[in-house]
Amino acid sequence: MSAVAGQVTAERAARLVQEHGTPLLVTFQEVIERHYRALASLMPRVKIFYAVKANPDLPVLETLVRLGAGLDVASPGELELARSLAVPSSRLLYTQPIKKEASIALVKDCGIDLLVCDNAEEVRKVGRVYPGCGILLRIRVTNPYCVVDLSQKFGCDPGDVPSLTDLAASSGLVPRGLCFHVGSQTISSLPYVETLKLVRSLMHELALKGVDLDILDIGGGFPLAYLNPIISIDSFCEPVVNTLDHLFGGQQIYCEPGRFIVGNAATLLTRVVGKSVRDGLPWYYVDDGLYGTLSGKVYDQADYPVRTFKRGRGIRCVVAGPTCDSYDIAFKDLLLPDLDVGDVICIESVGAYTTASATAFNGMDPAKRIFIDKES
Ligand SMILES: Cc1ncc(COP(=O)(O)O)c(C=O)c1O
Repeated sequence: MSAVAGQVTAERAARLVQEHGTPLLVTFQEVIERHYRALASLMPRVKIFYAVKANPDLPVLETLVRLGAGLDVASPGELELARSLAVPSSRLLYTQPIKKEASIALVKDCGIDLLVCDNAEEVRKVGRVYPGCGILLRIRVTNPYCVVDLSQKFGCDPGDVPSLTDLAASSGLVPRGLCFHVGSQTISSLPYVETLKLVRSLMHELALKGVDLDILDIGGGFPLAYLNPIISIDSFCEPVVNTLDHLFGGQQIYCEPGRFIVGNAATLLTRVVGKSVRDGLPWYYVDDGLYGTLSGKVYDQADYPVRTFKRGRGIRCVVAGPTCDSYDIAFKDLLLPDLDVGDVICIESVGAYTTASATAFNGMDPAKRIFIDKES
C-alpha cells in the first residue's frame, strides 16, 4: 500500500480545480475500500467498527457500511448520522467514556446494549439511566510509540478493574468486557501485544471470581504512512493477531480504527491567493489552512506530504492559511519551486481528523468536498 495512495496527477488536478474551484477536498472511495479490506483480511476474527470521528462524511460512512463495517460512534450527533444510514444497533458501538444522561437514554432508545465506562461515577450514572446495559471497562495504556496519547484523558488504572466490575454488577449492569485504545498513530505493535497480555491476566483474575467477560475491544491506533514510510500494516497486525489467537480464543474481538481507514484517501487542492517575501523567505498564502482542512496539524499533530505541479528547484518557503490570525501558518519550512498567485498546491493524506475538526473561523469558505470512486 503506497504512502500517499490518493495522488492526483497535474492534468486531473487542473480539470478538478477548473470544475469545482478551490479549496477542494477530493476523497477516493477506492482507497477507503482498499484499507478497510486490508484490515479485515489481516484480522478476520476481529469485528471492525469504523471510528466515525475520524471522518464523518456521509459518502465515507456509506462506503464502509456497504462493505460490512460497523460504526464506532461517540456522541448523539454521530449516532444520528449512523441512524440516518439505517445502520442496525448490532453494528454500532457507543464508545464515549463520559456521557450526559440524555446521551445514555438515547443509546438505550436506539437499542444499543453496550456502553464504555472508566470510573465509578460513570458506572453509577449508567446504572441509574440504563439498568441492564452491558459494560466495557476501558483501561489506560502506556505507549511511547503513539503520536496522540488518548490515555491522558481516559482509561482506568488496571488495578481498578476488579472493583469497577463489582460496582457495575451491583449497579444493575452487566460487565461484558474490557477495552483500550493504545493511542492514535501507534507505529509499533508492541504496546498492543503488551496490553493484550495485561488484559488476559485481568480477565483471568475476574474469571477466578466468577466473572466471565466475553468481549475484548482493542480500539484504534493502526498506523498510516504520511511523510515517511512506516511498518507495513501486514507486519503490524501479525503479532497482534497471533497474540489474540493465543490468549483470547473464547472472546468476541472488536476494533475501532479511524485513521488507517480514511487517512490516505483524501487530497486537498488549495490555491496560492497571495505571495510576499518576509525575512528573506517566500511566503505563499493559500485558500485553506489551520482553521480549515489542515486543522489536523493542530489537533492531530499530523504532518502531510505537500506537492505542487510546477517544476523547478526547491526553495525554502512558508505556506500560510487564509485567515487573519498569524497562528494560521500551515508549513514553516517547505521546499517548493517558485510559485505564482493562482498556482495549486496539493496536500496529500488529509482524510482523517482534518475536515472533522475544521472551523468556520473568520468566515472562510470550507473546502468543497467531492467523492470519487477511482484513483486514476
Ligand atoms: C474511542 C476511540 N476509538 C477509536 C478511535 C480511532 O482511533 P484511530 O484513528 O487512531 O484508529 C479514537 C480516536 O480518537 C477513539 O477515541
